[in-house]
Amino acid sequence: MRKPIKSNVAWIGKVDWELNKFHGNEYSTHKGSSYNSYLIEEEKTVLIDTVWAPFAKEFVANLQQEIDLKKIDYVIANHAEIDHSGALPELMRLIPDTPIICTANGVESLKGHHHQDWNFKVVKTGDTLDLGNGKQLIFVEAPMLHWPDSMFEYLTGDNILFSNDAFGQHYASEHLFNDLVDQEELLTECIKYYANILTPFSRLVTKKIEQFLSLKLPLDMICTSHGVIWRENPAQIVEKYMEWANDYHENQISIIYDTMWNATRIMAEQIAEGIAAADPEVTVKQFNTAGKDKNDIITEVFKSKAVLVGSPTIGKGILTSIAGIMEEIKGLNFKKKKAAAFGSYGWSGESVKVLSGLLKEAGFSLLNDGLRILWKPDKQAQEQCFTFGQQCVDDFRSES
Ligand code: FEO
Repeated sequence: MRKPIKSNVAWIGKVDWELNKFHGNEYSTHKGSSYNSYLIEEEKTVLIDTVWAPFAKEFVANLQQEIDLKKIDYVIANHAEIDHSGALPELMRLIPDTPIICTANGVESLKGHHHQDWNFKVVKTGDTLDLGNGKQLIFVEAPMLHWPDSMFEYLTGDNILFSNDAFGQHYASEHLFNDLVDQEELLTECIKYYANILTPFSRLVTKKIEQFLSLKLPLDMICTSHGVIWRENPAQIVEKYMEWANDYHENQISIIYDTMWNATRIMAEQIAEGIAAADPEVTVKQFNTAGKDKNDIITEVFKSKAVLVGSPTIGKGILTSIAGIMEEIKGLNFKKKKAAAFGSYGWSGESVKVLSGLLKEAGFSLLNDGLRILWKPDKQAQEQCFTFGQQCVDDFRSES
C-alpha cells in the first residue's frame, strides 16, 4: 500500500518487522528494518529502488494495485545490493523495455547479481531527468557510500534527497517519519548503522556531504532506503554523519574480552576498576564477546577513544569470538583509537602478543605492551591488573 510523502511522491516499500539478521548473519537487526521504494508521479512516473528479493512478488502485486506498470517511465536503481534491487527481476519481466537509470558501476553490479541485460541508462553526477511540471531529478554519484555503484538523487521543487543506504537505519516502524518514532531508538540504530557499515568510508562521507552542501540546495526531506524518512530537521542526520565521519569518539574506554575459566574475566574487571579509579570521568564498559552481540560491540568500539582487548591463550593463539571481532574491527579501519591487550595463560602465553599484533594491524596505536597473568589471578595479580588499568589511563594521557 502506498503512503503519501509529499506532493506527488509516495512510499511503496516493505516494513520487515521480523528481520533479525541482515547481510547473511553479519548484522543484527534488533528492531527489524524496512526496504523503502518511492514512486514519483509527475508528468513522468518514476520508481526509485525496490525491495529485498523475498518480498518481490508482494511488492510488484502492491505496485500493480496502485499503478498501471506500463505508466512507469523510469526505474531508478540507486544500488544493486538485493535488499533494493531484489524485486527488479519480477518487475522487469512485466515491463522489460522500461529504462533502468543507474551509475556505470550500477550496470556492472546489477548484471553481476541478476544476469539480465535490461535497458540500462547510465547517469553521472550533475545529470538531470526532467519529470515535467517544472520538476527535475538531479543525480549524484556516491561511490563507496557504501558500494561503488551507490547513487543519490535530488528532486527539485519538493526538495527531497533520495539517499539510498546513507542516513538510513535498520528500524521497522509503521510511522514513516523521523519525528514520529522513539528518538533514542532511532539514534541508536543510526549510529550502529554508521559504525558497522560506513566507518571505512568516512573520508568519502565527509567529501560527499561537503559537495552536496556546496550546491546550497534547500532540503525538506531525506528519503533513505532503510528506516524512517527525515522530515523534521533533516539536517540533523547530516550533521551527525559529519561528526561520526571525523574519527568519532566519546570519553569512553571499552574492554572487550573472552574467557575460558574466568581468569581473563577477572582481569577485565580489575582493569576496569583501575581505569575508573584513575579517571572518574571516563565511561568504562566491559563486553564478553562470546555472549554479546558483535554489532553492538562494534558500535561501542566506534564510540571509544581506547579499547582494551583480552583473551586467554588457547593453543598458540586467542579465543575464536575475539579473533572474529578483531577481523571485523580490522575491516572497519577505525582511525585515531588507542588500544592495549591482556590475557591469562597457563604455560606459553602467546595471546597478548597475538592480540597486540592484530590491534596494530587494525590501525590502533598501542598504549603499551599489554599484560599477561599466569593462571587465575590471585590477590597480587588482581592488583597488577588494577594498576594496569591505571597505567593505561596514564599512557593515554601522555600520548594525547
Ligand atoms: Fe541497503 Fe547496501 O544495501
